[in-house]
Amino acid sequence: MKRIALITSGGDAPGMNACIRAIVKTCLSKGITPVGYYNGYQGMMDNEFKEMSSSDVKNIIQYGGTILGTARSTEFRTKEGRAKAIHNLRANNIDGFICIGGDGSFKGAQALSEEMSIPVIGIPGTIDNDMYGTDRTIGFDTALNTVVEAVDKIKDTAGSHRRIFLVEVMGRDAGFIALDGALSSGAASVLIPEERSNIDLLAEDLKSQSKRKGNLIVVVAEGDDAGGAADIYNKLLPLMEGYELRYTILGHIQRGGRPSAFDRLMATRMGVFAVELLEKGESDLMVGVKGDDLHTISLQDAVNNTAHAEVSKLNAIKLLKTVT
Ligand code: F6P
Repeated sequence: MKRIALITSGGDAPGMNACIRAIVKTCLSKGITPVGYYNGYQGMMDNEFKEMSSSDVKNIIQYGGTILGTARSTEFRTKEGRAKAIHNLRANNIDGFICIGGDGSFKGAQALSEEMSIPVIGIPGTIDNDMYGTDRTIGFDTALNTVVEAVDKIKDTAGSHRRIFLVEVMGRDAGFIALDGALSSGAASVLIPEERSNIDLLAEDLKSQSKRKGNLIVVVAEGDDAGGAADIYNKLLPLMEGYELRYTILGHIQRGGRPSAFDRLMATRMGVFAVELLEKGESDLMVGVKGDDLHTISLQDAVNNTAHAEVSKLNAIKLLKTVT
């Protein structure tokens, strides 16, 4: 292996820079040239790349975002788009590829592996934590901490005014951020896409909880079947006369900020592991973490299965009901 291409793709996630740094440094230590393509697959099609040196990754471990930039490319989903990228990768003598991203990005990596016969490894990077085959994705822990910090602040004002707040968090179709965010901020309730929401029951529950608590927080996953925080606010209003309701949408603040130590550490370990796998001749694998240990699953399994907040969900909801 002489030249490994790397990209960050899909939504950015805190810890991606730590992962880029680890890949670059591991490559250099093994005499491999790391070639960073800008803006995900778009940069491969536009032939925008840089042979990376250790000075490119100096002092980046502590920053959110990604120094390589990222994108969601529709052109790369077409065979013609991929043909452009393959032409550029071949001209650049690339003989291995590491993609840091989510399942959409890994589908692109699989297509490249098939159509170019190049070994590829995926590293899960998304705040949503919705990748099958790994307990954690890069960025989730930092986003969770951002949510908890924001909810702590909202609780202060909610308590002073004895208000009920709906706080909408990201996560796309999965409830990981919402569930863990609710549990670790002491929320009164949580609405997640994995469980059918019943607004009548929620109203009753909030009324009964408000008798003993001055501030009530309901964490709402953006993908919930009853809608976002604004929709749920509108549905709750007529059911909760005499109560003061407000809603807040946390939005993209969840995607930024300094990565937590957990994300930096996991991203670093995954980056090193990915280079080692390519060097050993492995391909079409995603790096995952189970407990403290790194492992691999096939990219095929990673993209063909959906990660739900499923197994932990039931326990977590039970826990939430016990501790509110
Ligand atoms: O996948 C990460 C994520 O932040 C989701 O939680 C969210 O639904 C989506 O990306 C937002 O995407 P964009 O930044 O393109 O609006």
